[in-house]
Amino acid sequence: MVRRKPLVVVTRKLPDSVETRMRELFDARLNIDDVPMDQAALVEAVKMADVLVPTVTDRIDTAVLSQAGENLRLIASFSNGVDHIDVASALNRGITVTNTPGVLTEDTADMTMALILSVPRRLAEGAQVMIADKEEWAGWSPTWMLGRRIWGKRLGIIGMGRIGQAVARRAKAFGLQIHYHNRRRLNSGIEEMLDATYWDSLDQMLARMDIVSVNCPHTPATYHLLSARRLKLLKPDAYVVNTARGEVIDENALTRLLEAGEIAGAGLDVFEHEPAVNPKLIRLARQGKVVLLPHLGSATLEGRVDMGEKVIVNIKTFMDGHRPPDRVLPAML
Ligand code: DGY
Repeated sequence: MVRRKPLVVVTRKLPDSVETRMRELFDARLNIDDVPMDQAALVEAVKMADVLVPTVTDRIDTAVLSQAGENLRLIASFSNGVDHIDVASALNRGITVTNTPGVLTEDTADMTMALILSVPRRLAEGAQVMIADKEEWAGWSPTWMLGRRIWGKRLGIIGMGRIGQAVARRAKAFGLQIHYHNRRRLNSGIEEMLDATYWDSLDQMLARMDIVSVNCPHTPATYHLLSARRLKLLKPDAYVVNTARGEVIDENALTRLLEAGEIAGAGLDVFEHEPAVNPKLIRLARQGKVVLLPHLGSATLEGRVDMGEKVIVNIKTFMDGHRPPDRVLPAML
């Protein structure tokens, strides 16, 4: 008997090499025009697919999942984060969920470090001066455009998983003192290697940091973890960097505190209502108080190809009757 190839619906355009391999292995329904799918299109997709390959721009909620056809057994997300999927609802329906951990760690940590450097050292503002139409750069001056020193400052990392630790390794090389808050304390060997100080109390850590970097996933427990109350604990000369998920920070509260000068600046690669960006944040970026990036954390060709290969391995392993390597388990949420 000839087994039919699994029908795999991919919601967004993926790197060419990944799509080519998917065409070879699966009955792949690709989105080569990269038109984001609305909820109705996602419902059609889950009705017909054996495997759905969504990504961070799709909302795979209970309403979508409740329409899933009997064949849908696997959601192999092209992403590290899975907060766009109602994982509990999928698992209850007997649908396995996988993600792509590990392969975007270093790229995301690089981008975090780039923001940690950009905001205090006024990188975006300086670059803008060089290309502004209005007037030419008048030359070096002893007191012009001074930022703040990075070396020796305290960096508080919220979420010390793979990405948090990769940020810590980089930051240590830049002379930052590493502090962290995490659900679980790291083992002493890793703490020693990173020279990292653990804070059981997030509140206490926040009050003492010069730079805070958000590197935890967005889950019900971390939604607005940086609430208005907690943001007010930050020192007025502190900076906030977020390359994880916008929902972890109360964005309105952050914006208000930045406007009031109660927080010195922020570097944001992710937004609470992505792709919408609070216009007040854009105004603050024009004033040089914040640096905004369009969710570029994992945006390298190598990273996206590696993510695609992980998706393929997860689908193949699952279809061959084995446990896929990157299953998302309830305990991870
Ligand atoms: C992910 O995969 O979760 C990232 O946010 C994409 O950059």
